Amino acid sequence: MDSLNLKIKERTAWVFLFGVISLFSLFALFAVLFNRTVIQQLKRLLSTFRSIYTTDDSDQPFYSSNHYDEIDQIKYAFENVADDLRQAHEELKASETKYRTLFEASPDVIFVTDASGRITDLNNAGARLFEVGNLNDYLKNAHFTRLFADMDKGRTLFTTIEKKILVSNAECILKTDKEKPLNGLISANRLLNEQGEFNGIEGVIRDVTEEEKLRKQMAQAERLASIGQLAAGVAHEINNPLGVILCHGDLIKKNREVNQQIREDTDIIQRHAYSCKTIVESLLNFARVSEAKMCRSDIHECINEILAVLQNRLKKQNIEVEQRFDPNAQEIIMDEHKMEQVFMNLFLNSIQAMPTGGILRITSECDKQNQQIVINVEDTGCGIPEDKLDKVFEPFFTTKGRSEGTGLGLSVTYGIIQQHHGEISVTSQLGAGTRFSILFPRLG
Ligand SMILES: Nc1ncnc2c1ncn2[C@@H]1O[C@H](COP(=O)(O)OP(=O)(O)O)[C@@H](O)[C@H]1O
Ligand SMILES: [Mg+2]
Repeated sequence: MDSLNLKIKERTAWVFLFGVISLFSLFALFAVLFNRTVIQQLKRLLSTFRSIYTTDDSDQPFYSSNHYDEIDQIKYAFENVADDLRQAHEELKASETKYRTLFEASPDVIFVTDASGRITDLNNAGARLFEVGNLNDYLKNAHFTRLFADMDKGRTLFTTIEKKILVSNAECILKTDKEKPLNGLISANRLLNEQGEFNGIEGVIRDVTEEEKLRKQMAQAERLASIGQLAAGVAHEINNPLGVILCHGDLIKKNREVNQQIREDTDIIQRHAYSCKTIVESLLNFARVSEAKMCRSDIHECINEILAVLQNRLKKQNIEVEQRFDPNAQEIIMDEHKMEQVFMNLFLNSIQAMPTGGILRITSECDKQNQQIVINVEDTGCGIPEDKLDKVFEPFFTTKGRSEGTGLGLSVTYGIIQQHHGEISVTSQLGAGTRFSILFPRLG
């Protein structure tokens, strides 16, 4: 029994010893493995943090004291990183808000596209200028070329920016979503992704439609003024010899010895000389050389008188006249006779533009804000092609046959309106109609 007991004890001691040794070696193995895997990784992580914080010029110290073990140091490091991240996030948010405000408040259009040319962002000014209804819907399928009157030109410009990096103040004809044409100046540059590949374009568009209109008007006024000077010079030179021809014609006809044939020939000469005189007078009117007898008069009455003269012709041609007069726009300072010529020329043109009938609409209104009186003469006639619009006020510009027009009506009208310190402009749509607008300064 005793020997059995001893054996059991001995065995138990061996098992215990074996257990202790196994446990110890397991612990040692675990410690080595832990050191190899976790501690080494932690140390690497720590050294990364250290390198970040030694290159970072922020005055936040990184905890590297030897009093703390790696776990503590890592803890501090993570806290530092979390603080930095929070701060960076807030700064990023502030910067994003700042640039977003700039983007949205810009009076110029700012846009961004992706590599395929799809517009991914457009600011408020862009949405307004391009008459975009719902911006979110628009951005779903708006391509860069959609901004251009001629899509091919938009495509070419996109390729140029893609290849050339930068385009600065390129003139372009744009169009709104409602097909209204616009003049714009576009500056844009290409965007690259992290791999350096083309990733789209971003740019700014400035609307210069009004400037362009004004520039064209000024250029036209200058051109007409120089034509006027030339016309006045020529008219003066021709006026005198014409007077002499007419006078001598009369002298020939008064001579009793002159036979019938010579009288008839002289009549022909005088008739042609008179028509030349009419042209010369028109040119002088255009050049504003002839005197104007200005007085306070009723412009509505002046319009009605001319309409009365043309009444039969209007009826015969099936033209309906619509009038809407503003009583506040009644009185202006004018030369009545000259103003009659203005409306005669405008109404005749409208009549000629509506051979198969239509509507002649005449309106007057008083624009108190701009201290102006506006008279519009509008017809539903054939219209004027766009490339001819800036020529209509030039003397001798006509699209009519010899018997129908001399091309002097609108140039005379232009001269008379200028003499009244007014402005005349024209807008037209081919096949739909034409509108002449006259602005007079309002009486004080
Ligand atoms: N209301 C209008 N509708 C269409 N075309 C017009 C109109 N008014 C003027 N035009 C164009 O402008 C040109 C010049 O007009 P105008 O100076 O009056 O000369 P004319 O009538 O003798 O041709 C016309 O030939 C015509 O082509
Ligand atoms: Mg005419």
